[in-house]
Amino acid sequence: MNIEIKKSNYNNDALMLGFSDLKRLKTERPLVFSKGKGIFIYDENGRDYIESVSCFYCVSLGFSEERLVEAAYKQMKELPMYSSAIHRTVPAVMELTERLAALSPIKNPRIYFSTTGSEAVDYLVKFMWYGNSFAGEPNRRKIISRKSSYHGSTIATSALGGSQDLQDSFGIPMGFSLQVSHPSWPNAGLPGETEEGFTDRLAEELEQTILAAGPETIGAMIAEPMSVSAGMFPPPASYFPKITKVLKKYGIQLFVDEVVTGFGRSGRMWATEAMGLEPNCMTTAKGISGAYMPIAGIIMDEEFNRRLDLGNEAKGWFAHGATHHAHVVSAAVAVEVLNIFEERDILGHVRGVMPAWNRMLDSLMDHPLVVGNRKWGLAGAIEVAYPGEGRAGPAASLKVGGVVKEVYEAGLAEGVIVRPLAGCFVMAPPLIITEAEITELGRRVRAALDRVLANQPAR
Ligand SMILES: Cc1ncc(COP(=O)(O)O)c(C=O)c1O
Repeated sequence: MNIEIKKSNYNNDALMLGFSDLKRLKTERPLVFSKGKGIFIYDENGRDYIESVSCFYCVSLGFSEERLVEAAYKQMKELPMYSSAIHRTVPAVMELTERLAALSPIKNPRIYFSTTGSEAVDYLVKFMWYGNSFAGEPNRRKIISRKSSYHGSTIATSALGGSQDLQDSFGIPMGFSLQVSHPSWPNAGLPGETEEGFTDRLAEELEQTILAAGPETIGAMIAEPMSVSAGMFPPPASYFPKITKVLKKYGIQLFVDEVVTGFGRSGRMWATEAMGLEPNCMTTAKGISGAYMPIAGIIMDEEFNRRLDLGNEAKGWFAHGATHHAHVVSAAVAVEVLNIFEERDILGHVRGVMPAWNRMLDSLMDHPLVVGNRKWGLAGAIEVAYPGEGRAGPAASLKVGGVVKEVYEAGLAEGVIVRPLAGCFVMAPPLIITEAEITELGRRVRAALDRVLANQPAR
């Protein structure tokens, strides 16, 4: 199939893209990608780029996994669509549910499939409101989240994580949202503060936030095990045990958002397992289908489900659903992802290449623009600053400028796509990356850094 898109005289008043400058889109042709192979993508002029971020941390099996294409095609030919609702479903959804339940760190879970990660988090909040109201705790509606983490783009999820600037500019209703600090250690530490002191302070902040709002008004805290969006700060080992203790003290549930960290990024299926977390509910998306088709999952524990069942008993049904939830083609692709994980031992592969990944990240530390790095599973953040300037603070933002923007642009020129955040850029390549490809990625990143350095005025 050849789709010709007019390149000359670009002028496109109708094109609207997410996280983009709308004014720039009208007059400047965006980067257009037309092909993918393995960890590489190719633009419309045939130039190759290593996608060091797996697109949005999602294309876990690379851009040309034939088996996923075949699985989608086969399902499309057999039955391309049938909504899973009204006591009706399809075999692929039943199989995916069974296999995911067996892999879930939450015992005897119930699983609901939505289309996107944003929906998964949004619905989890909605389901909690429902269950709590029938379990005699209708006031437990508030959710605690950490500033500058990311849980989605719907109205409800925009109120979780994110920044006040973003919430204000969209006028997001924040009534149910309580926000605490993100564990961005060491950058967010106070002068002279130890790691233990830092996590004590954050646990104390959490407890004070709970007491100020009233524990009986709070249903859950939501947290990513490690938030890429917040700058990829692996939390200190004592962080989750301390906050879990506080949450348990006040009967507040822990929702773990594994939309990015699930499906192998840590070297285990779930970061929850790798980090010993004890979630009541989890969300998953992205890697669940290698991102070839949109699908996300909400995994809920027995107590959460008991509450949903109370509502069901009172009302006679569960009044929630949508056309594309648990889409049959997405489910078939997700089942094939699980087959590939098993047959090719993708988790073993990730653990096998992690030392080479870490060496590559460390090898960049001698570059004059690099002031630090962070490593977590098959992901990494490189902190950058202009020569003579100090490290950026802990704040992370999706809108960036300065040196990281320059590194991003230079990366494009050198054939590598990185994700710029405030003060750093992050990478989380497809899980299938090989050691030789990690070396090539490191070479291209260094070339991008050199390019930025060469353009710096003499100081
Ligand atoms: C941790 C986390 N949760 C939820 C979401 C929202 O997922 P989606 O973009 O599929 O709606 C994202 C997206 O990046 C995410 O990183």
